[in-house]
Amino acid sequence: MPPPTSSSLRSAGGFTARSWALAEWALLPLRLFLGATFAYAGLQKMSNPAFFSAKSPMSIQAQMIGAARMSPIHSLLHAMISHAVLLGWVIASGELAIGLGTLLGLKTRIAAVAGAFLSLNLFLAVSFHSSPYFTGADIVFLFAWTPLIIAGGGSRWSLDALITRRAAEQAGIARLPLVAVPFENVQNFCGKFDKGHCRALSNQPCAADRCPVLLTRPPQVTPVALKTFDRRSVVIGSSTVAIVAGAAAVTGFLTTSVGHIEASAVSGQKAATPTTLPPSGAGTNSGGTKGTLLGPASSVPVGSAATFTIPSSGDPGIVFQLDKGNFVAYDAICPHAGCQVGYTPGSQLMVCPCHGSQFQIATGQVVAGPAPHGLTPLVVVESANGNLYLQ
Ligand code: FES
Repeated sequence: MPPPTSSSLRSAGGFTARSWALAEWALLPLRLFLGATFAYAGLQKMSNPAFFSAKSPMSIQAQMIGAARMSPIHSLLHAMISHAVLLGWVIASGELAIGLGTLLGLKTRIAAVAGAFLSLNLFLAVSFHSSPYFTGADIVFLFAWTPLIIAGGGSRWSLDALITRRAAEQAGIARLPLVAVPFENVQNFCGKFDKGHCRALSNQPCAADRCPVLLTRPPQVTPVALKTFDRRSVVIGSSTVAIVAGAAAVTGFLTTSVGHIEASAVSGQKAATPTTLPPSGAGTNSGGTKGTLLGPASSVPVGSAATFTIPSSGDPGIVFQLDKGNFVAYDAICPHAGCQVGYTPGSQLMVCPCHGSQFQIATGQVVAGPAPHGLTPLVVVESANGNLYLQ
């Protein structure tokens, strides 16, 4: 077997000059994906008035109420439900800021820390009980942020790198071009080491100033130039952040305005507030119908829904009148991670606000989304005297 050559060893170790140069691009796809996703998530929330409306089953408030049932940080969620709208704006603006910072490579490490913090909180609040655990996206996002926290945003397509270059130019600090030189060439020029001495140069100590391919000493940077560099970095960095923040605020304002105009223009997209039925204890009515009285059947007109609390479990329930006298009802807890599903008349589906699972109204079966199975059906019947009973 031939002995390994130096070039095959370099390739085996992954240290070819090409791979070294390509490493600068390695984080770019992840950075662009995370940036675009978070910016989109923020704008999507801003464009959806239902997200901020407590009446909507898709609102931040509905999500918090649903998530608080099972979340390990349920006390915190309960305490914040009364500030749900404010929290919704904080999340939407935060996502937009994190997304733009990451996308543009501006204060990338700070954006990555904020993104990981937000993902961790969404994981604890909403996705903690996702089963299997990898069906909840938040845990994946949490770990996807870690390379950017550790290594920053890289030097490619990055405003951070551009700001550093500009500040260095303005401070008169020469930028050193980095050139990858195969170690074999260095050895050919400078000789080989032997116990700390250079065989090629009459056994003199190996030192950079004898080598024609190594930098003998770094360029002299004066303290004044360094101070200028720091000052210019702060000035250029702050102005860039201010410009990007201004552009983000205008984009957010326009997105919110367009969302409101569209929602009010398109009839049927406004979320209807379902009637809430107050269960009034188990019993049997004069007609012989057993169960918990929910209320008059007239409260649930054909094609509409009403919610109630299931006395035995405390879970929210939802009942529909599909057609005259034909009622279907379900435990409204999503089997994915325990959020409360809601009914949006425009979609003719029950939709989970947390990860978007959709369920058929007639059967409760999953139409789309990560929910592993359909909603638990309940039996609701109408008595002869026109009341609804949960059996
Ligand atoms: S809780 Fe995840 S889709 Fe409903």
